[in-house]
Amino acid sequence: MTRVLYPGSFDPVHNGHVEMVETAAGLFDEVVVAALINPSKGGGLLDLEERMALLDECFAHLDNVRTTKFDGLVVDLATEVEADFIVKGLRAVSDFESELQMAQMNAAISGVQTLFLPTASRRSFLASRLIREVARLGGDVSDMVPPAVLKRLLDRPDG
Ligand code: PNS
Repeated sequence: MTRVLYPGSFDPVHNGHVEMVETAAGLFDEVVVAALINPSKGGGLLDLEERMALLDECFAHLDNVRTTKFDGLVVDLATEVEADFIVKGLRAVSDFESELQMAQMNAAISGVQTLFLPTASRRSFLASRLIREVARLGGDVSDMVPPAVLKRLLDRPDG
């Protein structure tokens, strides 16, 4: 039984995240998707409850995926949920530098290792920050996010 932890801000969850979770769900016995309670990134869009509701909706079709939220160190959550590995997606070489550093730090402080999964090239440009911005300015993100997220983006008072 191999359980992996897939952490992120998910503001909002997009099709690149969905691809990673579907891939991980096929490779491992169980995937725990964890949303960071207080993402330090500015310009956020969704509060935690909204991000969690969308995660639950987007992964309802996968029996071996569950969602949770966390604050503090990701490695502490990995220990708490008894994850064997942290899983991260890599979109491009630019991701690799920061992800490698985080993986090394996490391994140094806890021994928890990180596995990297490559994103399909057709989704390698997807980033929550850009999707938020494009949607806010009226651009079409319908191919980039799950239907529930698109609805939420279009339902915004200024959407
Ligand atoms: O979706 P994101 O914003 O790229 O996810 C980043 C996240 C949540 C995975 C990262 O910020 C994180 O792990 N935060 C938890 C705090 C922590 O453990 N920091 C030490 C990392 S070496």
